[in-house]
Amino acid sequence: MQLTLKNKTILLGVTGSISAYKACDLARLFVKAGACVHVVMTPSAERFVSALTFEALTRNAVLTEASESWSSTLNHIDIGKMCDVFVLAPATANTINKIANGFADNILLQTVLAYTKPLLIAPSANTHMIEDATTLKALNYLEKHHIEIIGSQSKLLACGDVGNGALAEPLEIFYATARALLNDDFWNNREVIVTGGGTREKIDEVRYVSNFSSGKMANSLATALYLKGADVTLITTKGHAEIPSKICTIDIASAKEMKEKVVKSITNALESETLVPNKTRLKPSFPNHKQETSKKPFLFMAAAVADFTPKSPKQGKTKKINIGSKWNIEMKQTDDILKSISELSLIKVGFKAEMDKVNGFSNAKSLIENKNVDGVCYNLLADSSAFGTLDNSIVFITKDETVELGRASKLELSFKILKESQKLEHNNTI
Ligand code: CTP
Repeated sequence: MQLTLKNKTILLGVTGSISAYKACDLARLFVKAGACVHVVMTPSAERFVSALTFEALTRNAVLTEASESWSSTLNHIDIGKMCDVFVLAPATANTINKIANGFADNILLQTVLAYTKPLLIAPSANTHMIEDATTLKALNYLEKHHIEIIGSQSKLLACGDVGNGALAEPLEIFYATARALLNDDFWNNREVIVTGGGTREKIDEVRYVSNFSSGKMANSLATALYLKGADVTLITTKGHAEIPSKICTIDIASAKEMKEKVVKSITNALESETLVPNKTRLKPSFPNHKQETSKKPFLFMAAAVADFTPKSPKQGKTKKINIGSKWNIEMKQTDDILKSISELSLIKVGFKAEMDKVNGFSNAKSLIENKNVDGVCYNLLADSSAFGTLDNSIVFITKDETVELGRASKLELSFKILKESQKLEHNNTI
């Protein structure tokens, strides 16, 4: 996904783990997203990867014990002041234990101790080192102090053992860092449900009726919401390999299953809508995040739900010989999920893809009355080739306003949709 981190400055801390080479991929992901990247390395990290590699990748001088300078900003105080977020990846058990105890006996630890903005730590160590009681206690302590821990993975480790301790995937660390940078008070800790993809309605056990919806708009929307800090549940008929793994995903197939999961997720969201303390370590300049907040959940119904489903799906595979030259399949209407949901403390956004240039807009606007939604994302399709593309064009409609969001990548459009959707909470309460 084309996520942009332009105008953001990231400090990447690298410690002496075999997975230090993966920090090169991470630095590259940040640079490709348009961020300015600075790197600080422990002396042990320099035994695994050279500072020159990071310098070439980031086009910035790397802070090491040897390069520290007080006649420039390349020192453990100024480098932190220049950066919006500090991510340690990989962080060894030794570094984690030292940070938790306030040690500052190398250049990276000195930089951490002096740093005051959001800090993320991605541990990487042998299973016994990471699961050692002292390390666990240190991780727990750091989390309690609003430092985000990007959990390690269980797999075959470089040391030959199989178990927990492998560095999280660079893409996951990238997303977690982007989330710390893009976090937005409105969406932070808000429960949001997104649906996506076209439902599949069984004719028999091998055939189904469906539509061309790719689920990409929903995946982009879920990613944008995650990056803004929301607690996202994505209910989809399509895959979700490229999206942040922290997004809670529910795989379904039919309209009936989608309805069940949407209703259940709304119930859960309304239950946890109660007071949620803010968890993220945010910039001191942000509004007071220590207070507990109550936030209305949102439902973004981007799925293309089948309006009709075969009335009597058959068991097994229906044989051609038993059908003859024509197959008339009796269909019955599905429940309209969006229309059936009437919870007042839920903000609903519908999606309307139309091919009718003349009536498309009014059909889309009619969802406000007909399905009691707060906003509609309207998309006029030229033809069926418009499905599955990486970009889209959306008009955001509310009862009072029509905003052209234009044509853009689905992720970019998602951020614009979220910006417009913020106004809906106010409209919903008056
Ligand atoms: N929707 C729904 N349940 C259905 C059908 C649609 O919740 N059984 C939702 C879609 O997810 C979308 C909105 O309703 O957010 C509009 O769906 P769409 O199929 O475009 O419109 P319909 O009102 O069903 O009308 P038509 O299919 O005739 O265009």
